[in-house]
Amino acid sequence: EAYEAGEHASYMRKEMLEQPEAARRVVSGRLDKRFATAHLGGLNLDARETREIQRVKVLGCGSAYYVGQMGALLIEELARIPADAEAASEFRYRDPVIEPDTLYVAVSQSGETIDTLLAVQEVRRKGGRCIGLVNVVGSAIARECDGGLYLHAGPEVAVASTKALTTMFLGFALLALQLGRVRDLSIADGRRLIAGLEALPEQVEAVLAQEDALAETARELAKAESLFFVGRVRGFPVAREGAQKFKEISYRHAEAYQTSELKHGPLALISPAVPTVAIVPDDELTDRNVGALHEIAARGGPLVVVTHEGLDLGGLPATRIDVPRNEKELDPILLTIPLQVLAYHAALHLGHDIDKPRNLAKSVTVE
Ligand code: AGP
Repeated sequence: EAYEAGEHASYMRKEMLEQPEAARRVVSGRLDKRFATAHLGGLNLDARETREIQRVKVLGCGSAYYVGQMGALLIEELARIPADAEAASEFRYRDPVIEPDTLYVAVSQSGETIDTLLAVQEVRRKGGRCIGLVNVVGSAIARECDGGLYLHAGPEVAVASTKALTTMFLGFALLALQLGRVRDLSIADGRRLIAGLEALPEQVEAVLAQEDALAETARELAKAESLFFVGRVRGFPVAREGAQKFKEISYRHAEAYQTSELKHGPLALISPAVPTVAIVPDDELTDRNVGALHEIAARGGPLVVVTHEGLDLGGLPATRIDVPRNEKELDPILLTIPLQVLAYHAALHLGHDIDKPRNLAKSVTVE
């Protein structure tokens, strides 16, 4: 069956709207309510090997790297294994030490990104084990890995990735759940996560339904030549992905920062001409986040805050974008969806080619 944009103005819009379905597909048949875990048979990891993992290293490029950061946090939180993400494009150039008890995870929509493929080869050449979170079945990265899981996002045509990223995040949630349950994650926490994963597709739909209000905010943001995207801990990769999407298709300078780092430099750039999009979930950092954003407001910086429904932002002067509440570990993906819609409408307003932004290719297969 041909995959076409159809009645949608662009593939990107079609693919954004397909996210609830893609989110259902990636978890479908992989959740086990009885044992409150996930079953990812293709990982080729038994219980003993899972218990022996000392570290997880996620490798990906661009947005896949940012979702990899979200994934590493999920693994560390749920499975209590030290985990981090690294740009696959840098990895092999530092002659990395490959540890036999580290689980390497390559993440890629296309499965053909040369930097990610070469990073996987570097791991395997030095005797490491690498699994893949890949969308395209039978692609080079999928074939090169020792095992993994397919994302089932369906075809993605727009250069700006949306639904593939959502399935990557959920793939990491499944992986973290399975690793966690073999190790120390309680059955109650497993059940809590499964309920969250099941509730998520409808919540994604609810965020996408705010498109008209988001379009209005996007038109305001599109006026600025330069923007900041800020967040902390779970919110930081969300900010990175938000800035990435915005610059890819709107061609505006968008820079991501940890909210906590603003006072160490970038605050000097805040002015009425430089808006900030801030990620402020309802979590243990809310008060600190709001405090830092008051510093921006005091300097006349316009604020757009992506936050949770009903959260009191203490009189902060900001345009507010609310997302539904789920389990805190799953927050990043719900906080990311409105940023896709903002980037899309900013680019549309500026009259850019949404699906084929200048200078970029859908998959980067040469160095
Ligand atoms: C995402 O919007 C970008 N177009 C880009 O960063 C992309 O995620 C990156 O090139 C990795 O591609 P992959 O997932 O196909 O490996």
